[in-house]
Amino acid sequence: MQVWNEYLAANKQRFLDELLDLLRIPSVSADSKYKADVARCADAVKASLLAAGCDNAEICPTAGHPIVYGEKMIDPKLPTVLVYGHYDVQPPDPLELWHSGPFEPVIKDEKIYARGACDDKGQMFMHVKALEVMVKTNTLPCNVKFMIEGEEEVGSSNLGKFLEGNKEKLKADIVLVSDTSMISMEHPSLETGLRGLAYMEVEVTGPNRDLHSGVYGGAVANPINTLAKMIASLHDENNHITIPGFYDKVQDLTDAERAALNSAPFDLKEYQEELGIKEVQGEKGYTTLERTGTRPTLDVNGIWGGYIGEGAKTVLPSKANAKISMRLVPNQSSDEISALFQKHFESIAPAGVKVKVTPHHGGEPVVTPTDSIAYKAAAKAIQTAFGKDPIPTRGGGSIPIIALFERVLGLKTVLLGFGLDNDNIHSPNEKYDVFNYFKGIETIPYFHKYLAEMS
Ligand code: BES
Ligand code: MN
Ligand code: MN
Repeated sequence: MQVWNEYLAANKQRFLDELLDLLRIPSVSADSKYKADVARCADAVKASLLAAGCDNAEICPTAGHPIVYGEKMIDPKLPTVLVYGHYDVQPPDPLELWHSGPFEPVIKDEKIYARGACDDKGQMFMHVKALEVMVKTNTLPCNVKFMIEGEEEVGSSNLGKFLEGNKEKLKADIVLVSDTSMISMEHPSLETGLRGLAYMEVEVTGPNRDLHSGVYGGAVANPINTLAKMIASLHDENNHITIPGFYDKVQDLTDAERAALNSAPFDLKEYQEELGIKEVQGEKGYTTLERTGTRPTLDVNGIWGGYIGEGAKTVLPSKANAKISMRLVPNQSSDEISALFQKHFESIAPAGVKVKVTPHHGGEPVVTPTDSIAYKAAAKAIQTAFGKDPIPTRGGGSIPIIALFERVLGLKTVLLGFGLDNDNIHSPNEKYDVFNYFKGIETIPYFHKYLAEMS
């Protein structure tokens, strides 16, 4: 479609500058000191939707951070695409590991460095600019609705209620999301599943106060030693998770599914080198792609307790804490797994300590169809823009709200992501390739075109 490419080519610098402006707003949803910045970012997203051609856009307040809604309705008979994305970002720390300020975006080696560059401002904004391209060239073939939230990185806890309360407004034929990764630009791919999440916090308490580790050491259970042992026991020597019932609902893939999954291009040596590790590690009997895409996992995300200041302090601490997350696969339920974890973790605590388990937000796993019109439209859009058919893959990350789109709105989702696994999302020096940004803006109008043609 020549008109799009001409319009895109003529406006490239502005499209980039506008994204950089959005990246300058520190919309960190987890930290209340950024609350005003998060609100300012919502305003900026709303303004960008209106500028791109939405007929109306609004800020929808929630108990937490606001949701931005916008729409461009051209004909009720045409298919309607609901674009979902998030304008909130992860906290930028540790700051000292960034080569440039997380909210002072720079372009280096054709990559945009900033918190949110890939996850998800850069990817979300491609849809805003793609709308502009289609509106300004009079080629918009579908109705488009936007729902851009500000709480994805903290579990989307108010979005479910928004879906329940706005079923009519959110009526659509398909949800389109760019918040996942591709294998590479040479091997474009489409994620067809996301893992679920159960996130727990645990506290182990020993004596009623910190003690002198010489006076009491050896006679009283040390909560840190105990917590470390309890955590270590959650995996066996084959890296299977030892929580009773944990795997009960997990379905094994068929040999054909496994073969398909493992036929995706993947270089183990490169993977290890890129991460600076000598060897990968994971559940016995599964390949790396299977481990991240199709198997449930348990990981400690943070652990603290005792003395961590300068020098040495001899102390037997009263408490130890950890944050532990489990990634879930189809048929596992976040609530069920949380309950199994809690029961097991309490049961393995020795009598000398008390254990408190607190569940945090979670989310259900999803598998998206590959035989739908919308998936075929996405595959054809990629084929047109990249000159190659996309490879279906299973993503390891989680977007908890996707399961609710189906449950509450009855809508399936297409995961049209343009990130790369090494974009450092949630890490220092998050980046998004300029190429991917423009490739996304080029691909999205084809999705709308083919969806309208095939519907
Ligand atoms: N965009 C990511 C999820 C993602 C990343 C999916 C890469 C596939 C590939 C999303 O913003 C995210 O970080 N989700 C969180 C869960 C959320 C409840 C904090 C995650 O996966 O840890
Ligand atoms: Mn994201
Ligand atoms: Mn994220």
